[in-house]
Amino acid sequence: MTEKLFLQTLKGKKTKQTPIWVMRQAGRYLKEYRQIRETQENFISFCLNPEKASTVTLQPITRFKFDAAIIFSDILLIPWAMNFNVRFKTGVGPLLDAIEKPNMFDKNCLKGLTEKLSPVSKAIELANLSLPETTTLIGFAGAPWTLITYIAEGGSSRDFKTARLWAWQHAKELDALLELITEATISFLSLQAASGVECLMLFDSWAGAVPAAHRDWLVTRPTSTIIKGVRKNGHQQPIIGFPKGFGDGLIRYAEESGVDAIGLDHETDPKWVDKNLPRNFPVQGNLDPLSLISAGPEMLRSIDYILESFHDRPHIFNLGHGITPSTPVENVQIMI
Ligand code: CP3
Repeated sequence: MTEKLFLQTLKGKKTKQTPIWVMRQAGRYLKEYRQIRETQENFISFCLNPEKASTVTLQPITRFKFDAAIIFSDILLIPWAMNFNVRFKTGVGPLLDAIEKPNMFDKNCLKGLTEKLSPVSKAIELANLSLPETTTLIGFAGAPWTLITYIAEGGSSRDFKTARLWAWQHAKELDALLELITEATISFLSLQAASGVECLMLFDSWAGAVPAAHRDWLVTRPTSTIIKGVRKNGHQQPIIGFPKGFGDGLIRYAEESGVDAIGLDHETDPKWVDKNLPRNFPVQGNLDPLSLISAGPEMLRSIDYILESFHDRPHIFNLGHGITPSTPVENVQIMI
């Protein structure tokens, strides 16, 4: 059997056909997702139900035959497993108990982490039983800085003020928390790698909130530590980093973080990326998810621009951020 398109691309090979998948492809824009989601009120319990999580993982593959499936879980499962009080409120999003200073934690909160997250491992095994041979299964985690923004703000945030203040005012304590989360992330990614995913992805959704002076400390170095940790545990799967909003920080990130590929947000010009990242460095992205709401000629032009910009570089087609719940499903087919 020839190697999967998706994995060839991550190894730096330009394939004739560009592989494609979509961030948040298993989610509320699908009526089959909404239907099964209704059977469980608590979102964490839903993520930790291996049968339901694996079923939902397969839904977008059955419908659209994407080149990759992403195991259904959430980046906030790590803070949950570290005993932060994580819950999801309909219409509001994630909620955590806000903490004043990042100094309330020690190694004890890592106890039992892999046991608590073991349903994800079971979901991976189940999903692998039903995935088509040509589809790659991706495991993932949130990067430490992005998780810290949720912990600091007690949920989603507009300007990430508390997390940024911690960096200036409580650097030592923040660094200790960063280290704990880094360790948790190495364990969670290693667990997924051992359970049968063929690729890993690290979501640093709020990397763009980090001041340039702190990029190495809060984004690039933790990523590098995580990758070294996963490799040390014996896992060789390619790792995609997604430091959303990182701008020109991507140049150093590509050189220093150790990721095998970079996910690009839609604010980044693909032509700039092609000029500034090392030749043959694989990229993923970066259509604006909102272009799918109408899926008109402007969307098609934007797709052409992305494909044309990366015509000489290994490229996985994707959106620049997650697909939104209000996207008409038939528009996804137009994009494909
Ligand atoms: O197809 C997939 O990508 C499914 C797996 C997945 C989910 N979340 C399921 C989910 C993945 C990869 C994520 C990542 C995630 N979660 C990120 C990083 C990517 C990004 O979008 O930046 C972040 C920041 C989160 C945190 C999170 N989880 C938020 C802010 C929310 C609420 C958002 C909202 O729109 O209400 C979630 C909940 C969540 N995670 C949902 C899904 C499908 C929706 C909740 C539901 O179905 O009730």
